[in-house]
Amino acid sequence: RTKPKTLIVIFGATGDLAKRKLFPSIYHLYNKGRLSENFAVVGVARREWTDETLRDTVYQSIKGEIDPNVGDLKDFCKHFFYLPFDVTSKSSYDSLNTILNKLDNDFDIPGNRIFYMAMAPEFFGTIASNLKSEGLTNTKGWSRLVIEKPFGHDYPSANQLNEEIREAFDEDQIYRIDHYLGKEMVQNIEVIRFANAIFEPLWNNRYISNIQITSCETLGVEDRGGYYETSGALRDMVQNHMLQMVSLIAMDPPIRLTPDEIRSEKIKVLRALRPMEPIELDNYFIRGQYGPGEMNGKSVIGYREEEKVDPNSGTETFVAGKLLIDNHRWAGVPFYIRTGKRMSLKSTKIVIQFKELPMNLYFDQQQSTHPNLLIIHIQPDEGITLLLNGKKVGPTGETTPVQLDYSNNSVDSINTPEAYERLLYDCMLGDTTNFAHWDELNLSWNFIDVISNYWEKNHPGDFPNYKAGTMGPKASEELLKKDGFHWWSLFDSDEKYEV
Ligand code: BG6
Repeated sequence: RTKPKTLIVIFGATGDLAKRKLFPSIYHLYNKGRLSENFAVVGVARREWTDETLRDTVYQSIKGEIDPNVGDLKDFCKHFFYLPFDVTSKSSYDSLNTILNKLDNDFDIPGNRIFYMAMAPEFFGTIASNLKSEGLTNTKGWSRLVIEKPFGHDYPSANQLNEEIREAFDEDQIYRIDHYLGKEMVQNIEVIRFANAIFEPLWNNRYISNIQITSCETLGVEDRGGYYETSGALRDMVQNHMLQMVSLIAMDPPIRLTPDEIRSEKIKVLRALRPMEPIELDNYFIRGQYGPGEMNGKSVIGYREEEKVDPNSGTETFVAGKLLIDNHRWAGVPFYIRTGKRMSLKSTKIVIQFKELPMNLYFDQQQSTHPNLLIIHIQPDEGITLLLNGKKVGPTGETTPVQLDYSNNSVDSINTPEAYERLLYDCMLGDTTNFAHWDELNLSWNFIDVISNYWEKNHPGDFPNYKAGTMGPKASEELLKKDGFHWWSLFDSDEKYEV
């Protein structure tokens, strides 16, 4: 197995993302033998930490996950170094360069460098251009830039940010993280679709009546009120994660499984999205904001009472939308999406609802058959459910829905890598498949901007319009009802479905 020799520089190493996701991911890669001993991590940030402070933080962040079979954890921590850093000062880059060259030498790393931006986006451009001008990307090996969202606030700001970083890095050196693309079952969509003969022939508007993609959370905005006020659910979840899932479900089979071929099919989906017209937007996209309510029997405050949130805030914490994809495969099939905070459960699922039979033989017996559903469980449980109709057991001609379940949970949950672990490893290997390309961002922001501009101009009069701990505002149900559909309940694969 390939064990890339890599030096990782984490900008914002004292922050939350580094602690919660990056250090544990690096540890897991190390533990599973995917990292060679020839690796080093340099954390940089404003604070006056030392190597020891960083190593201690790394240790604390992985303490709960330590595998007793792994040797001395101190050996792992010895690969970590820290440099207090001012992103605008040339001398910081000089010092960093000296350290990186030394570590290349000490750990026998052939100049392969990942620059990971785990910090506020306003500095991405400055850092990228200084890395280049100060010669930090000029090595015998490769240099890659990993960027966390938010990648812009709308198309113009995303474009500007992109131009800034493109001055220093080529598109194929830029890895824009969309952590949904690192999820096991999101990656499985492609396999379910393209490695099975039974789905692809039905995967179109002749057999599918609608598709529902839900990603709901029980958490509120927690301590991110400041960021969330500038974002809202549309930018936070729809522009990236939801549209990525739509693309993977709707794309045509690529001619090969290379990053370029896959991306080019996904991009065609985004190009075929019917643009929203402000005049009829209310028929396609609705928004919500949570008010006070109850979660697990405990009262919780409403969004407007959260820290750093305007008491009259018009920011949406819930979005439901109907997307139309104007191409031969999908003309006439609505893709419904919904996402929100403080909903009744944490769940991400994709439900593919098939059309009714041309004629129902069982109708005479006062029975309707259940629509066939294919459900892809993304999280928390991972698996697939296929809902069919069968015969009720016994001396009866009645039909009853039966459920075929495949669950990943029982397979290898211990070894299932977390999204960040996969993505970091992909980046070391130079595989850009599961990262967002600029062309995708360009199209998705242009689609989203029409909606956010319209919403910004029209302050919602009815906020808050759903109680914490519920499935969102009533308008979300209405959106589907108008088309004769309803949201399917988000049952888990090990739960028996009840009609
Ligand atoms: C992030 C959003 O991108 O995704 C968060 O910024 C959200 O607001 C999170 O909570 C959801 O991710 P997951 O993996 O918990 O579904």
